[in-house]
Amino acid sequence: MNLRAYRPSPRRSVPSRTQCRWNLKRTASLLFGIIPLVSLLLIFNHIILREQTALASNSATKTPTPVPLDVGITQAMTVTAETPPTPNKAERQIVGGKPAVPGAWPWMVSVQTFTTPDYVYFCGGALVAPNWVLTAAHCVINSMPNQIITTIGIHRLGSNQGQLLEVDRIVVHPLYGYDFTHDFAHDIALLHLSQPADADPVAPLTAATLELAAPGTVATVIGWGALSEEGREGWLSYDLHQVQVPIVSQEECNTSMGRMVSENMLCAGYSEGGKDACHGDSGGPLVVPDGNGGWLLTGIVSFGIGCARPAFYGVYTRVSQYNDWLLQHISEMETVYLPIAMQSEAVATPQPATMPQPTATPQPTAMPQPTATPQPTAMPDGVIRRAQVPILMYHYVSEPPPEADIYRVDLSVSPRRFASHLQAMAAAGYTTISMYDLLAHLTQGAPLPPKPVVLTFDDGYRDNYENAFPLLQELGMIATFFVVTDFIDSENPAYLTWEMARAMQAAGMRIESHGRDHTSLQNRKDDYLIWQALGSAETIEFEIGVRPRIITYPFGRYDENTIRIFKSAGFWAGVTVRAGATHMTDDLFQLKRVRVRGTTTAADLLRLLELDW
Ligand code: ARG
Repeated sequence: MNLRAYRPSPRRSVPSRTQCRWNLKRTASLLFGIIPLVSLLLIFNHIILREQTALASNSATKTPTPVPLDVGITQAMTVTAETPPTPNKAERQIVGGKPAVPGAWPWMVSVQTFTTPDYVYFCGGALVAPNWVLTAAHCVINSMPNQIITTIGIHRLGSNQGQLLEVDRIVVHPLYGYDFTHDFAHDIALLHLSQPADADPVAPLTAATLELAAPGTVATVIGWGALSEEGREGWLSYDLHQVQVPIVSQEECNTSMGRMVSENMLCAGYSEGGKDACHGDSGGPLVVPDGNGGWLLTGIVSFGIGCARPAFYGVYTRVSQYNDWLLQHISEMETVYLPIAMQSEAVATPQPATMPQPTATPQPTAMPQPTATPQPTAMPDGVIRRAQVPILMYHYVSEPPPEADIYRVDLSVSPRRFASHLQAMAAAGYTTISMYDLLAHLTQGAPLPPKPVVLTFDDGYRDNYENAFPLLQELGMIATFFVVTDFIDSENPAYLTWEMARAMQAAGMRIESHGRDHTSLQNRKDDYLIWQALGSAETIEFEIGVRPRIITYPFGRYDENTIRIFKSAGFWAGVTVRAGATHMTDDLFQLKRVRVRGTTTAADLLRLLELDW
């Protein structure tokens, strides 16, 4: 049978939709989904990555039991994390700060996920109205409301302090991720709570109160994030911490952080370093005193270069730039907590049409049939990990043709520049790892080299073989190439041939799927998605001899159904074009990337690799 012509009937792979309680279903689907994934991963490791076979033995430790979750808001839940971090030498917290006084920040919010039997903290947030939590867009982008829960006013994670409230709507800023010049632009999102919180909200800084956050003002940032930049494993601090950081002028901020900072962001910190937010603090508040014993929400923790390093600052979303957007979403009833000046401004300004909001219709989660699940040889260790590993996204490695449009130019890195990127990474001590190394780390804690980086190339252009491949080999580096199978099948000279792909695979590169024909995978029928998933996977397996397990969504477009179908078709992970370098074990189908542009110099690249986002 010609595998490439094979078009399975939708029945074959569409999981049954059982009517069990959705929360139990989520737990079960996680277990049934992740166990075969990990066991397949181990088998793959065994065959392909021989050096890693040792992992299988030490990973068969803690088997999670399917525990039905009680999502009742009064139930106290514990937090899953690795052993509480031991305070490091200098007792530095949040980086350079101190533990908060319990109860001092009643509007502080822990944003958590409940894809495991326990709630897992992943970002900070601030209560800005009785029903609304403000956080960073990069924390919740593409999450479904039913995957997020919030605890208002909690001090120690895992304790039963605070008020646990469900989220029924996520409003990500419409321009987040669509700015050509600033990857982190509009890193702001609102979470609508299913019922009002008891705590009093914090008021956002407005145009009228701007001088209260003038450069030099000492602000306070609050969070449960890492205690130091190196704290990559023990990224969580159990007790809420705070640190004081002065607000930095926009000029100073721009000079130190390069082209990355727009007028919608603000910097805070010390040029000598030492005090900063860090991994895990994202989404959390930066506040300034309001002059009356209260606080004004001035920034949202967004990104940084490492943490607390000299010459760099923490970068925050500048809340005062988003007053209109906030008002647009926070209903009149709830605006009582916003300062008067802000409300009258809003009355005077005609309201722009509200962006269509995703309604809270939770899609049934894929439920792989337990009978079809092979007896796993090893279990996931049950730990939800967070790993900061940049996945670089390249496209063309060639000089763009003279008639090239701005997009093509933006996507083209010259071979000389590409060589300089590789040399700079090698000199700075980076080690290229495969997507599979990253997955093994996330699901089982397989060790990673000190400065890991994944190189990916989208679309499978022929210049990848002609220009990138020899340079990679010269430096002993590996990369993953996401190919469009119909383009190769049609022998289009702009793309790789299967011969080339085989040669690359044989030299340690990986060939993975970018779909059959580079059409969007968003809002598609199951049937069509199965055709894309199995069609591309079977073609690659037939041509290369290895089953691809990773999909990169064409145009970065996908939805929950795309993930469900690709999972059921045997894929283990999905790669997006969302900016960031932080990945979570329970979010393998929304891996983030770091875009490399035509204009990205080697120095820019090193700076991008150091980003804490
Ligand atoms: N983006 C990080 C997170 O996801 C936090 C960034 C803050 N880093 C800093 N150095 N200020 O938690």
